[in-house]
Parts: sequence; structure tokens; C-alpha cells
Amino acid sequence: MANHELSFVHRFEPATAPNLAPLLLLHGTGGDENDLLGLGRMVAPGAALLSPRGKVLEGGMPRFFRRLAEGVFDEDDLRARVDELADFIGEARAAYGLPAPVALGFSNGANIAAAMFMRRPEALAGAVLLRAMVPFKVPPKADASGRRVLLLSGSADPIVPADNAARLAAQLSEAGAEVTHRVLPVGHGLSQADVSLTREWLTEVSAAAA
Ligand code: MLT
Repeated sequence: MANHELSFVHRFEPATAPNLAPLLLLHGTGGDENDLLGLGRMVAPGAALLSPRGKVLEGGMPRFFRRLAEGVFDEDDLRARVDELADFIGEARAAYGLPAPVALGFSNGANIAAAMFMRRPEALAGAVLLRAMVPFKVPPKADASGRRVLLLSGSADPIVPADNAARLAAQLSEAGAEVTHRVLPVGHGLSQADVSLTREWLTEVSAAAA
């Protein structure tokens, strides 16, 4: 059942396996807090799952920040939304007793996670970005060192051009993150390869942190 008590409507599933980083699940446009729970369980069985619903509505569809057109972002809104989401992570960590989460975002959810890595990197332990694009025209100066990112792009993605995804990978590396970027022979939608690569990467990251 959705929880309405903290500053975002969200779902929370406590961990059943010790020593796994919690996952912060960030849905795409038109999704909600239920969308990525199944994916979260598949890629990190037993990890705590924290899944907020984006507060911006576009024609009734929840998102995490406003856009002016497809791929053209309202950057003032994006900055404010990154801050409110980072604050929610702090609230949820206190309420549920969690360490910093690894974000797992798809599309619009991946874009706000990328923006958070550049503006409030301390809020996240790492991130899996599925079909993310460059969030800021001029990236803020941030120190994301010590944090790992898996960026999975689609070579036939009609929303995220290949050079845009490559630029995002470069910006995250410049901020100090350790970035793995894989381009899959797929479009914007998720594929089985996304699930298996994410699962492998998360297993490797938790083994390295243990
Ligand atoms: C966005 O607005 O974040 C991107 O265009 C991806 C999308 O949600 O379609």
C-alpha cells in the first residue's frame, strides 16, 4: 500500500537480506511508485526498496520534474525537484533506518538520478541509469568520487541520441564517478539484457562494499 506519511507518496519494502544497499526506484513518465518494485526484486533480491511517486503531473502523468518539450527540461524546476527528492531520501533514511541508497531509475527517473549525481551526490551511494540523458545544459560542479554508475543506453533509442548518452557518461566521469556505460541493441524500452546487466553490476558493487 502506498505510504503518504513522508514528503513523497511512496512504497517501502524492508530488506530481507543483510548487507545489500537499499534501492531507490525512480519510475518513468506516467509511472508510479508501484512500477519498478518487480524490477527491484529481480535485480537485488532481498534489498530494501524505496519507491517514491514523482510529484509533477504532465497531462495527468506523474514525473519527477517539468519539461518544456520532449528532451527539453525546465532546469529551474529540475534543481528544485532534485533538492526535494534528496531531502525525501534523508527523511526516509531516518524513518526506516537506511544507509544511502543506490538509485535505479528509468527514463525520467534516470534523468533525475543523473541530475542528483551532479547536484546532491551525497544523497546516493551509486546509480543505475536506464536510458538517461544529459539533464543540465551546463553541469554543476560536483564531487561524485567514490560512487559508481551503470549507464545502459539503447542504440535505437528515439528519445536519447547516442552522442547525448556518451556526453552524460563523460560528465559523470568528470564529476569523479566510476562509470560503466553499455550501449545495447534496443530502443527506449527495457530489455532482458537491462535486467541481467543491472543484476550483475549490483552484485559486484555489493561484493566490493562488503
Ligand atoms: C524526460 O522528460 O525525462 C525524458 O524525455 C524521458 C521521458 O520521460 O520521456
